[in-house]
Amino acid sequence: MLRELNGDPEEVNAGSWATSAAAPAHALNGTRGRPALSIVLPTKDEAENVEALVARLETALPDIPGRRYQVIFVDDSDDDTPKVVEAARERSRHEIVLIHRPRERRGDGLGGAVVEGFRAATAPWVCVMDADLQHPPELIPTLLREGEQSGVDMVVASRYNEGRSETEGLSAIRSLVSKGLTAAAKLVMPAGVRNVADPLSGFFMVRRDALKLDTLRPKGFKILLEILARTPGLKVREVPFEFGRRHAGQSKAGAKEAMRYLSQLWQLRFGDTSRRFGKFGLVGALGFLVNMGLLALLTDVGGIYYLLSAIIATQGSTLFNLVLTEAWVFRGREGKRRPSVRAVLFFGMNNLALALRAPMLFALTTGIGINYLVSNFIALASLTILRFGVADGWIWAEAGDEEKKGCWYDVHGIVSVQSDVRLPELERFRVDPLETAPTVRVHVGSVAAAERTAPAPGATRARYVEKLGRFGFGTQIDIGPDSIEVVASRLLRHSPHVLYTNIVEPILRWTFADKGYALVHAACVAVGEDSFLVTARTDTGKTTTILKTLDSQPTWSFVSDDLTLLTPDGRVLTYPKPLTISRHTLHAVKRPNLTWKERFCLVFQSRLHSKGGREFGLMLAQKGFPAATMNSIVQLLVPPPKYHVERLVTGVSVQPTSRLAGMMVIQREGTAGQVVLEPKEALEIILENCDDAYGFPPYHRIETFLQTRRGENVAGKERAIIASALADLPAWLLKSPTRDWFKRLPDAVETALSRRVAASAPHVRRSTMPATPVPVNATLRPE
Ligand code: GDD
Ligand code: MN
Repeated sequence: MLRELNGDPEEVNAGSWATSAAAPAHALNGTRGRPALSIVLPTKDEAENVEALVARLETALPDIPGRRYQVIFVDDSDDDTPKVVEAARERSRHEIVLIHRPRERRGDGLGGAVVEGFRAATAPWVCVMDADLQHPPELIPTLLREGEQSGVDMVVASRYNEGRSETEGLSAIRSLVSKGLTAAAKLVMPAGVRNVADPLSGFFMVRRDALKLDTLRPKGFKILLEILARTPGLKVREVPFEFGRRHAGQSKAGAKEAMRYLSQLWQLRFGDTSRRFGKFGLVGALGFLVNMGLLALLTDVGGIYYLLSAIIATQGSTLFNLVLTEAWVFRGREGKRRPSVRAVLFFGMNNLALALRAPMLFALTTGIGINYLVSNFIALASLTILRFGVADGWIWAEAGDEEKKGCWYDVHGIVSVQSDVRLPELERFRVDPLETAPTVRVHVGSVAAAERTAPAPGATRARYVEKLGRFGFGTQIDIGPDSIEVVASRLLRHSPHVLYTNIVEPILRWTFADKGYALVHAACVAVGEDSFLVTARTDTGKTTTILKTLDSQPTWSFVSDDLTLLTPDGRVLTYPKPLTISRHTLHAVKRPNLTWKERFCLVFQSRLHSKGGREFGLMLAQKGFPAATMNSIVQLLVPPPKYHVERLVTGVSVQPTSRLAGMMVIQREGTAGQVVLEPKEALEIILENCDDAYGFPPYHRIETFLQTRRGENVAGKERAIIASALADLPAWLLKSPTRDWFKRLPDAVETALSRRVAASAPHVRRSTMPATPVPVNATLRPE
């Protein structure tokens, strides 16, 4: 019962023949549509192996109701392999497809056969493996599970993982060669290939939709390498396995495959570059003709002095070159520089090259004694190579993924941020680009240009621009019904801390409030599931206290250092920004993990980003100086010393979510001691400290704007959230002129916890507000 898979030329190459025992796919085994997995088996003279292979596949693939498997042989054999496949099919419960390629279609070898298998596959996942049983079919269920459950696009069965360097099935020499080839691939290929332990494996599984089959140029054995190199952004996971011995017959690998592999590597790595270089050279040659023509025209017809017309002609031919380079040589490339910047750089480069030509000629001819015509050729050729290198690698440098898609942050699933610039403070919330639109979008560019665009319907706009126009600090914020658009001036691209602290963070604070969460100005430590806020006026010594506390209480964990996210029902969500430290802070901790260079820089950073530095800045702001601009420039030149808590306290853990159990206010003024705070007082203090956190411009100018959402004032909302979160909780004022609060914290914590146990066993809270949902998977990035 054979069926011709009658060749949709797309699916099966014309001239080859394909058969399948399967009844029309949807009717197979009386079941249901699409197979779950297609297994592509390239074969070349494997007649002795097919039967055993199909038998192993029978037992290896689990019988799950509703799951079907499709086995595709893509055969380039001259022996009986096709016959054996058809015979084996009678005994198989799986759909078996056989594609037999006639001799003239086998030029692309193993890889081409695999791609043909991909085209014929109808399942969402396709597994590729050898047909000689060196790849154990028993691993397929594991690969499929990994693929379906982990959300990756590809699962590679690697031969080298987990110290399994013993590649059983390869002879000692081939094993060595194989390792050498792998190393070569890793050396020259980009990260997508480098990060895979075994990019030359022949055993892998891939999501059919993740492949771009038309971009593949298969050439012999290394089809996985081809896929990895031509499919940027492919998410890959690896599973180790033991490369077995060949069941029967012999390997088809040999010197020819090695040569093919090297040429494949060259193509993948330099193919595009050499094509671009060819185009660049051609444009250069045409430009040379344009140059000559212009020179003749200007001098002879225009009567201009020939040296002057040479200079003019160069500008003309450079313009000609620029247009072609832009439109042809680098067509389709998303550069990281703007076209106007590229133009300026290109003109600069060409004029410099022209200026270099004479001295080069002189050095080669007079200096070394080479014939002047040969010298001229050498000079021109090497300048062309040089110019190409600069154009390709710098002027038209490609925008990285970050630049194209921006950096994405997801703060506990409550608020998401997409930013043109990396925001180091949000690093721990960094995620891959999300499918959904971000809550806050931060764009770096011209504020003046943004000003001319109309805000989105329903959005309100605020702008703050300091003198100096486009070179200074400026921002425009559009608050829309469900998203916020921020434009920050170009200066801020290079001063991301200022961008975050003075623009993004205030926006986030009020966006959280609007969504029912309070981002309060308080540090927080957790004792088991319970956590305690520690708040203080700016520059009291909150950071030092937190670090010393964590150092001396190894069982406690870190929640936040500066800001903490609260829900009305008293849940705490971590907000782990890097900590701004000073030399003083560093002395306070036991074993900070900073390099000598970081410590050295800290001496200067400390000075500048100290209390004094900030006060000076604020004073300037009050005097009407462009304080935000100056602040940005200072932070551009000397970035503030910010380190994640793990760098400062060895072995500390971060508690993603916890339950609020109390609050401590630390204060230097007054005589040492501890005062119990009324809930009302506690609330006022923390609110005051919150406002105190945002002293720098433009905050005060845009405060009211940020607090207003859809005509409603969210400041009241934030206050209610905090009040509700603190309701019924103990609060203390810890006074210590000698700043040894960290010694008093454990006592207060003890009291709070024991008091709660006494009050009621299950912790029941009287919340004045409806519960806010807490996201369950508070996913945070590890270091
Ligand atoms: N259709 C087709 N066409 N199949 C081929 C061809 C071809 O030109 N050449 C080889 N095959 C089939 C073989 O029949 C076998 O099923 C599978 O591809 C692997 O070929 P072998 O000849 O057994 O290769 P190997 O064991 O030396 O190489 C294996 O290990 C390499 C890593 O060192 C393969 O898995 C390679 O893909 C892998 O790179
Ligand atoms: Mn083999």
